[in-house]
Amino acid sequence: MTTLADFIQGLPKVELHLHIEGTLEPELLFKLAERNGVTLKYDSVEALKQAYKFSNLQEFLDLYYDGAKVLLHEQDFYDLTWAYLEKCKVQNVVHTEIFFDPQTHTDRGILFATVINGINRAVQDGREKLEVSSKLILCFLRHLDETSAFETLEEALDYKDLIVGVGLDSSEKGNPPSKFERVFAKAREEGFLTVAHAGEEGPAANVKDSIDLLKVFRIDHGITSIYDDLLIAELAQKQIPLTVCPLSNLELKAVDDLKNHPLKKLMDHGVLVTINSDDPAYFGGYMNENFEASARALKLSKGDLCQLARNSVVASLLSEQEKERHFHAIEQYCRENT
Ligand code: HPA
Ligand code: ZN
Repeated sequence: MTTLADFIQGLPKVELHLHIEGTLEPELLFKLAERNGVTLKYDSVEALKQAYKFSNLQEFLDLYYDGAKVLLHEQDFYDLTWAYLEKCKVQNVVHTEIFFDPQTHTDRGILFATVINGINRAVQDGREKLEVSSKLILCFLRHLDETSAFETLEEALDYKDLIVGVGLDSSEKGNPPSKFERVFAKAREEGFLTVAHAGEEGPAANVKDSIDLLKVFRIDHGITSIYDDLLIAELAQKQIPLTVCPLSNLELKAVDDLKNHPLKKLMDHGVLVTINSDDPAYFGGYMNENFEASARALKLSKGDLCQLARNSVVASLLSEQEKERHFHAIEQYCRENT
């Protein structure tokens, strides 16, 4: 009998909601601070880890942006991304769609090119050396203004071949989708696909507006959709995927207990739900830990976990041929292990 942990480890998984800056483990953060001569507020890895206790999204974001200050050079972005891709390999994550936040870095005087070239070099190496494929999605910081987002989009145009889409992250409260309607329209005109964080801390209306105003093909989080029956029906009917991040929701107090997480209810309503890690270095777990914690709390069956793995392939930006290959691997694994 395989244990639940073994079953999840062996299941081929696809990750669709992952901020590369959120994979900065305290150990690497300290190493980069030393390498780059950056002074930290904490004097040890343990002291920093102690600070990772959050009561809401904003408390996390303050630490997350602070941590990113150790990233200065192309090699730093490479090392960060490479460490994450190695983790993917270990956890049998076969494909990942990675968010990066250029404004977190360009606002500190780091060149857009430094960020994207470091990340992209690791992505290429990950594909060749680890057989983990990746796509990159640029996120606009929604607490900054429209002008800054437009400037960032302009910079991204030189890297169209490396960036598949644009998204929207940071503080949801007070920064509704409508603030970025024009930027997203321009991004779509330029050929970028769109996604957006919505319904994490904000109301279900933000999910609806992301669909209607920003024309997203996927919603990141989307858990407050559970409070709107009409919206649930629309998500299910149009098969608009939700990239749900259970441990993130728990750590940021979007849910009080994983047992009360709406993931399973949304699945039962026919919504295309996926499981993801968001900012694994800050929230206590990568993909396997998110799958396992969800399975235990919500009593998910192996069949449910196989369904979640398939959903992620459906919701991904992989080609039909690549999707077929992953479906096949999941089917075979699930047939032999359930
Ligand atoms: N929500 C909003 N912004 C973010 C997140 C998140 O979960 N992670 C990194 N930036
Ligand atoms: Zn996120």
